[in-house]
Amino acid sequence: MMSRYRMQNPQPPVANIIKRFKKLFPAALLIISGCYSAGVADDFTQPVEFSHKTHAGTNEIPCEFCHTYARRSINSGAPTIENCIGCHSVVSGTETDQIDKIKLVKEYWDNRKTIPWKKIHDLPDFVYFSHKRHIQVGYDCTECHGEINQLDVISMNTMIADLSMGWCTQCHTQNHPVIKGKVAGPVRKTRGGAIVPGGAMQTPDGSLLASRDCTVCHK
Ligand code: HEC
Ligand code: HEC
Ligand code: HEC
Ligand code: HEC
Ligand code: HEC
Repeated sequence: MMSRYRMQNPQPPVANIIKRFKKLFPAALLIISGCYSAGVADDFTQPVEFSHKTHAGTNEIPCEFCHTYARRSINSGAPTIENCIGCHSVVSGTETDQIDKIKLVKEYWDNRKTIPWKKIHDLPDFVYFSHKRHIQVGYDCTECHGEINQLDVISMNTMIADLSMGWCTQCHTQNHPVIKGKVAGPVRKTRGGAIVPGGAMQTPDGSLLASRDCTVCHK
């Protein structure tokens, strides 16, 4: 079975191949990239031209100010329109095109509508992933999402990871238990202090690894 994600997003691997290929055959690249881009449409245009660069970059609004559930639940979730209006009832923008884009946000609010954001990251339903667990153990958003605060538009093409099973298990195998120099505490305390199969595995040298037990990610 081929995952929905890979079918929608062949871009990152192909982009890498093209990068390598470019050094060897610059002329052939034109033909290849021409065919390739014809087949891939980025249909992730959002209903409002929201920019992470403006908000999380220039204005340094913390990620979790908008994605309030990342630390507490499975989903990070998209922010509510109340969140936007909290600022945009006062912030109307300085340049003309900004003012127009912000007006659109107010229209949604005035019509009591939510903004129908399109979901970009989307694991298949048979995979269990929880933000909470990863954030609480000490990972920064950038670890899996890259420099989001430099992006005007998030799309399949800006993703730094392919969200494949190999990506998950590789990190579960290699990067534990030391994250950015500090020992990841919670894994030791899983289910009352004992090291259990669903929580962590102990390697012969005594270090702990995040679980690779199938049932942890496939419930
Ligand atoms: C903490 C305050 C804050 C929140 C919350 C906020 N914004 Fe903004 N927004 C700003 C600021 C500041 C600007 C830049 C205005 C300027 O430069 O004059 C901006 C600019 C914009 C623009 C203009 C385009 C651009 O990139 O400059 C749009 C559209 C926009 N915001 C939409 C939203 C939406 C949609 C939400 C809710 C998901 C939201 N904002 C939440 C502060 C906020
Ligand atoms: C002012 C509110 C706001 C802030 C601050 C903010 N975001 Fe967002 N974020 C949004 C909105 C609105 C969307 C949906 C529109 C879009 O995809 O651009 C979104 C979408 C995303 C998505 C894609 C969601 C999907 O469907 O796959 C990711 C990942 C994300 N944000 C991560 C971050 C990170 C990391 C930070 C901090 C660097 C951050 N966001 C800061 C409002 C915000
Ligand atoms: C260990 C990797 C990892 C880290 C760290 C991480 N994310 Fe995610 N994020 C993911 C994956 C995987 C998905 C896709 C989840 C799905 O489709 O069920 C995702 C999806 C999202 C989405 C889309 C909505 C949703 O919840 O599915 C947003 C928004 C988001 N992340 C924001 C953030 C923010 C903000 C942070 C930091 C506070 C963060 N992420 C940290 C891996 C990560
Ligand atoms: C950047 C490294 C990293 C990536 C990428 C990553 N994980 Fe993890 N994951 C961890 C660590 C470390 C833990 C252990 C957390 C703890 O100690 O509580 C963990 C724990 C988990 C747990 C909880 C296990 C338990 O004991 O119940 C699940 C479920 C999980 N990850 C699923 C995923 C899935 C699904 C993906 C891919 C979509 C993924 N992870 C990607 C590092 C990662
Ligand atoms: C750390 C999380 C994690 C663990 C552990 C894990 N998987 Fe997965 N698995 C995933 C993710 C994420 C996907 C979706 C991959 C994609 O869409 O490309 C997946 C997809 C699959 C698929 C569908 C393959 C496909 O091509 O779509 C099968 C079958 C599968 N896993 C079986 C297993 C088995 C068997 C184990 C135990 C040996 C296991 N998984 C352990 C995260 C995990």
